[in-house]
Amino acid sequence: MITKHIKPDSLQEAADIIASGGTVIFPTETVYGLGANALDKTAVTKIYKAKGRPADNPLIVHIADVSQLENVARDVPKTAYELFRRYSPGPLTVVLKRKDTIPAEISAGLDTVAVRIPSHPVANSLIKLSGCPIAAPSANLSGRPSPTCYAHVKDEMDGRVDMIIDGGESDIGLESTVVSLAGDEPILLRPGAITLRQLEDVLGRVELSRSIFAEYDGSAASPGMKYRHYAPKAKVVLVKGYDSEVRSFIKSKIRSNEGCGVLCFDGEEEFFCEAVTRSYGIPSEPRTLAHNLFDALRFFDSTPVSVIYARVADGNGIEMAVLNRLIKAAGFTVIEV
Ligand code: TXA
Ligand code: MG
Repeated sequence: MITKHIKPDSLQEAADIIASGGTVIFPTETVYGLGANALDKTAVTKIYKAKGRPADNPLIVHIADVSQLENVARDVPKTAYELFRRYSPGPLTVVLKRKDTIPAEISAGLDTVAVRIPSHPVANSLIKLSGCPIAAPSANLSGRPSPTCYAHVKDEMDGRVDMIIDGGESDIGLESTVVSLAGDEPILLRPGAITLRQLEDVLGRVELSRSIFAEYDGSAASPGMKYRHYAPKAKVVLVKGYDSEVRSFIKSKIRSNEGCGVLCFDGEEEFFCEAVTRSYGIPSEPRTLAHNLFDALRFFDSTPVSVIYARVADGNGIEMAVLNRLIKAAGFTVIEV
């Protein structure tokens, strides 16, 4: 398949591709998405094929504004409207009961649907011009880190979709917060830039899905959580503990092993000078850590390292999302020193 690459000045052609059943990669404020007409079963199947995504991992449906919500979901609770009013357009996805107009393939057969209203102007215009809701997962090959800039999608997805829109860098750099309102109690399925605290402001107590920090046990409400995710080619090992002890531990590993990489904080490179280092920000600025994480993981793919030791910040804000992605990237290998 020949992929057309465009700048986002004229989106009509991209919208026509979506409307006629094709696939388009487009920028959003979180990560790039691989979109197709959410009302068209055949088009949705193309998304799974382009990503090599297992058919039991459901997709998010993107709408332009809340007036389209009842076209895709049914029995929408008041709290969903309140969440969208407070935090959308933006990095929030709400799981609701699915309306029959949305093909079951989107939700991997579940009777729910995940809905998001993106704030990125290109994403928003594309939905409006297409005249349909757009189903879109992150635009990476299944299992790989989500793409946060045009170079990532160009490298990985050229030849797999009809069009790629070059929208520069994603502002946030991590995927949206996913919260389910489809059951009796609200459940946080995936942490993101909208924090647990912000959700609780609207919803009261929100349960945390076990799959956020623990290996899939067969019962997770979000099937996507069971797969190894965000994985660079090298093995990732997450190291937690006091700064000085974490640094000594990683240094001892570097001395006894060839091919070590360290995902570290700014200013720490000198401690690990015998390894390949990449810093991704400082703990007091967690939004920067989130913004840089996936690009840093991809950086290591261009180096010969076979293992990456990763530093991580503690905190209940967006730090929780960064920790979640790193735990998945590490395939749950966490060392507490
Ligand atoms: O920021 C984002 O959410 C990006 C951009 C493109 O919007 N999209 C994204 O999609 O990250 P994806 O497919 O990579 O992740 C969707 C997540 C998966 O963990 C999936 O299991 C969950 O949402 N999900 C989707 N539909 C669901 C449903 N009906 N019930 C439970 N979880 C669902
Ligand atoms: Mg994804």
